[in-house]
Amino acid sequence: MEAVNLSGSSRENFITPLDLVGGWPGDDAIVRSACFYDVEQYDESLFDTLGIVKPKQLLRAVTKRKAEFLAGRYCARRALGQSGLPSYCIGIGRHRQPIWPEGMCGAISHARQLAIAVVTRDTDIYGVGVDVEEEMTSAAVLQIQPFVLNADEYSLLSQHLLPPEQLTTLIYSIKESFFKAAFPLVQHYFDFDAISLLEIDIHQGVCCFRINVSLHPVLPQGKRLRGQFSFPRVRGLDTCTIATLVILTRETR
Ligand SMILES: CC(C)(COP(=O)(O)OP(=O)(O)OC[C@H]1O[C@@H](n2cnc3c(N)ncnc32)[C@H](O)[C@@H]1OP(=O)(O)O)[C@@H](O)C(=O)NCCC(=O)NCCS
Repeated sequence: MEAVNLSGSSRENFITPLDLVGGWPGDDAIVRSACFYDVEQYDESLFDTLGIVKPKQLLRAVTKRKAEFLAGRYCARRALGQSGLPSYCIGIGRHRQPIWPEGMCGAISHARQLAIAVVTRDTDIYGVGVDVEEEMTSAAVLQIQPFVLNADEYSLLSQHLLPPEQLTTLIYSIKESFFKAAFPLVQHYFDFDAISLLEIDIHQGVCCFRINVSLHPVLPQGKRLRGQFSFPRVRGLDTCTIATLVILTRETR
């Protein structure tokens, strides 16, 4: 898998754009943008410098939260810019979801130092979700498994396709990506048992999952969908990163 190259000089010390040349899940219809961000370099004036409106929801937020929000919005704005909408101000919905321009959909994710945004204006796509996670520690895996994994997924674990830390992180991440893709349609929170990962192809970076409860007329119980994943090697990061992408397309595609 190719390493991710840093491109260009840092616009600010806080942000370093990442050139997603490979190793990240993708699709021709999806515009992606990612960056490194350094919480230590965060400064209140960066919202103005980067031309991003600081929402009222962040007034009392801690520095880490402000930094990750800013980095995510920076990526989203770059992705929208590449789609012809450079100055669109992404709103925040009642459930914290980003509000994308009419006719477009997208998603944002941030891990400790990484942020990524994806957008598309492909009318055959009605939802897209992205997630980046640092590989969980063994202790975190033990804590999170009972909340995130169901019987189907425990049986995947027993196939030893990946170390349990990576596989658990991957399953968690696919579920987060699916949640973000589906939320604009479903319009309410749903739990981790709403889908089951059934098959994982480590070499192709694709997985198949099933919806366990009816979420929406186009997301009925029993429907099978595909997710993509990869383990991008990011220069400067010593931990394993897992990136996932879920694209919901109309049946015509
Ligand atoms: C909201 C949630 C998906 C965020 O995921 P996370 O791994 O904690 O954090 P990430 O950095 O990857 O993503 C955060 C971004 O998700 C986006 N997001 C938040 N709520 C969202 C929603 N309801 N719908 C779509 N996107 C949402 C936001 O852009 C947010 O970043 P921002 O607030 O800085 O703009 C997660 O915390 C959550 O509440 N999940 C609900 C339960 C779930 O996932 N169920 C699984 C179903 S199978």
